[in-house]
Amino acid sequence: MRHCIYPGTFDPITYGHLDVLGRAAKLFDRVTVAVADNPGKAPLFTAAERLEMLRPNLAKFANVTVTTFDGLLVEFCASQKADAIIRGLRALSDFEFEFNMALMNRHLQPKVETIFVMPNEQFSYTSSSLVKQVARYGGDVAHFVPPNVAAALKKAYGPAQNADDRG
Ligand code: COA
Repeated sequence: MRHCIYPGTFDPITYGHLDVLGRAAKLFDRVTVAVADNPGKAPLFTAAERLEMLRPNLAKFANVTVTTFDGLLVEFCASQKADAIIRGLRALSDFEFEFNMALMNRHLQPKVETIFVMPNEQFSYTSSSLVKQVARYGGDVAHFVPPNVAAALKKAYGPAQNADDRG
């Protein structure tokens, strides 16, 4: 039974993340999406909100579950008896950060391998920050996020002219 963890802040989940998840679900018997509390990133949505936004989008994957975590990722992986961490590489610009993170995680926990997959190129420029920026000023984010996430963004930011009130 091969089990991988797909960690991220997911503030919010995008179709790019779901593309990576689909690839992970085919490669592994079991995938746990791990929503990092990550206060350092000052997320727009709480970890519980991010988890709830993910949940309906996981229904099509029979072998995927979702949970939140805090603390070190490798310790979470050990607690879950996971074999691997999966991450998406959208473009060359992701490489240095991901490379350093993978090596640090390997230093901390040599048994857990990091595996990279490339999401479909149509998502190469998608990021949660950009999606939030577009939503904040009233732009259409339907191409980038599932409908429940688009609705949550709309609710969080309200009408475009009040966007500066949150995040
Ligand atoms: N499609 C779309 N966007 C993607 C993407 C994809 N396939 N893959 C990554 N991204 C974007 C995200 O939208 C996000 O954009 P943003 O920075 O504009 O918000 C960015 O890339 C990275 O987000 P994400 O994939 O959610 O990961 P992260 O870098 O926020 O998460 C953790 C990093 C949680 C894995 C890392 O901080 C961690 O492990 N934390 C726990 C503490 C720890 O162990 N630290 C030591 C690590 S060495």
